[in-house]
Amino acid sequence: MENNNCFKVDENLRHIAFIMDGNGRWAKMRGMSRPEGHKVGVKVFEHIANTCFDFGLEAVTFYAFSTENWKRPPAEIKTIMNLLARYLEVCGDDLVKREVRFRVLGDKDGLNDNLREKINSLEQRTAHFRKTLNVAINYGGRDEIVHACKKLVDEGREINKENLSLALYTEDCIDPDLVVRTAGEKRLSNFLLWQASYAELYFTDTLWPDFSDEDLILAIKEFYRRRRRYGGL
Ligand code: IPE
Ligand code: IPE
Ligand code: MG
Repeated sequence: MENNNCFKVDENLRHIAFIMDGNGRWAKMRGMSRPEGHKVGVKVFEHIANTCFDFGLEAVTFYAFSTENWKRPPAEIKTIMNLLARYLEVCGDDLVKREVRFRVLGDKDGLNDNLREKINSLEQRTAHFRKTLNVAINYGGRDEIVHACKKLVDEGREINKENLSLALYTEDCIDPDLVVRTAGEKRLSNFLLWQASYAELYFTDTLWPDFSDEDLILAIKEFYRRRRRYGGL
């Protein structure tokens, strides 16, 4: 096993985005309830975020709740929202200590007041830091692009690539170099449709609650074996 403390990325890998999938299957395999899977999933999210910054990543994004996840049973949605609210209550000091900016990607108007206030307060508290932790909540890539277009129209600004990029929920955040999806599904499920245009995609069968530093290192090593051509030769 690697000495994880010595593992560092370089300027070719600045941003990793994670589609954290498989919490439900992980719980089911253990005869546990789906909420139990989400509870462990949040712990793994916190750990992997810290590992990413220890490895030298500048930005890390986690897909926590999609615009389509409202189709799930109300009790499961409530569990996920409560877990996110609890995370927001406790993570502030640690993010400040680590000098990490927290940002939610998604339509915050669709969230309950309590969650939205906690998000706004943490975003303001950490807004001056450079390293970025994005958490996608009530996020959909199509929704985001429509929202950005409407914003530009409302402001009377030209719709071009530069303006549109900055009007997305990610604002000035660099695009992901690598998108990692756990739990075996090979699709984007409406995640970062604009930003991931040239991201390398990495799929693993590992379920999110089992995703470890070693799994992350495997993904990073695979990234460094890829050759990014951006349409050139
Ligand atoms: C990912 O795990 C978490 C969310 C989408 C909120 P799932 O809950 O989708 O887990 P599976 O895919 O059912 O196993
Ligand atoms: C994608 O996972 C959304 C998140 C990880 C938050 P889903 O489990 O919702 O995706 P599908 O339904 O398998 O496409
Ligand atoms: Mg899933």
